[in-house]
Amino acid sequence: MDTKSIITGTGHFLPPKVVTNFDLEKIANTTDEWIRQRSGIIERHYVEPGVGSSDLGYEASLRAIEDAKIDKSEIDFIIAATLSPDHYFPGIGVLVQAKLGLSGIGALDVRNQCTGFIYALSVADQYIKTHTYKKILLVAAEVQTSNLDYSDDGRDIAVLFGDGGAAVILEPNNKDDGRGVLSTHLFSDGNHISDLWMEKPSPKDNPTFQKEFFDEKRYFPRMSGRNVFKNASEKMPEAVRLALDHNGLTIDDVDHLIPHQANDRISLMVARNLRIPVEKVIRNIDRVGNTTAASIPIALDESLKNGRIKEGDIVVLTAFGSGYTWGSAVIQF
Ligand code: ACO
Repeated sequence: MDTKSIITGTGHFLPPKVVTNFDLEKIANTTDEWIRQRSGIIERHYVEPGVGSSDLGYEASLRAIEDAKIDKSEIDFIIAATLSPDHYFPGIGVLVQAKLGLSGIGALDVRNQCTGFIYALSVADQYIKTHTYKKILLVAAEVQTSNLDYSDDGRDIAVLFGDGGAAVILEPNNKDDGRGVLSTHLFSDGNHISDLWMEKPSPKDNPTFQKEFFDEKRYFPRMSGRNVFKNASEKMPEAVRLALDHNGLTIDDVDHLIPHQANDRISLMVARNLRIPVEKVIRNIDRVGNTTAASIPIALDESLKNGRIKEGDIVVLTAFGSGYTWGSAVIQF
């Protein structure tokens, strides 16, 4: 029997401050109607100044550890995914590790933006299957709202993002019951980086920080919305179809699809392309906004805790994001 990785605990943490579309109307030239219609978002969470993605990741990790009913000292590896680390370097893996008091074990940072959780899951899965580690903490967290451009140049992206963190514990499944991660598929195409990126700061510039870049607002995230929409709606279904074929499954076998919560219109387009009933698509973007790497594990944790995902269910994850990067994972719970 091949060892499979199984998720034994999940947790998430959203900062308490809720920012509604009406709140955004006060700081940007936007409307609740525009945001709802284009993205399905009604509200999202913002951190207070001084809170970093490692703090959200730490809170989420505590919840996942408790849920897995393990002692934190049993964790033998950490993988952290974020596009918004507390510092330019190091990444947040070591910060979460230090906050948990787990000095000494390895901590790996994954930089794959909205696809970060699926990339991190894939790496963790290989370590478990090869018996390298036995209890991996996989954490994804983002603080994006401290660097958004609320002027007309950046309002398209500023209204989408929220802050949040989530974590899962991955362990080997020693039972022969078929449960666990069935597959992960990862893809990228680096020809489109400027469709969705934060161009500066860049160590290619000397000095890296320059006033003219600030004046030109090149330190803000920028998105070519139409290109992202088109590619996300095509690439996620492609990745799901490949994953299903790989496992000898069809859409009818899927109990739940969790797409990266990029934008509800994209999620609905993915569902339409795959011809999967919309009731099977897990969507929480209305309350959480787009939390990039954290979006899938937040939705996963919520759906496990509220009983929507049950033991035995086949759950398909798919994401698309900056890079471009995209991918899918199939898990039997
Ligand atoms: N509020 C009000 N108006 C806005 C806002 C806003 N927040 N943002 C942009 N606009 C304006 C634009 O300036 C433009 O105005 P103009 O016509 O006067 O020039 C107009 O709205 C464009 O709106 P649409 O006619 O709907 O244009 P389009 O069809 O190009 O759609 C949109 C733009 C909504 C961004 C679309 O491309 C989209 O939904 N893309 C997906 C992007 C996305 O959701 N990415 C998720 C983040 S990335 C990730 O997670 C993978």
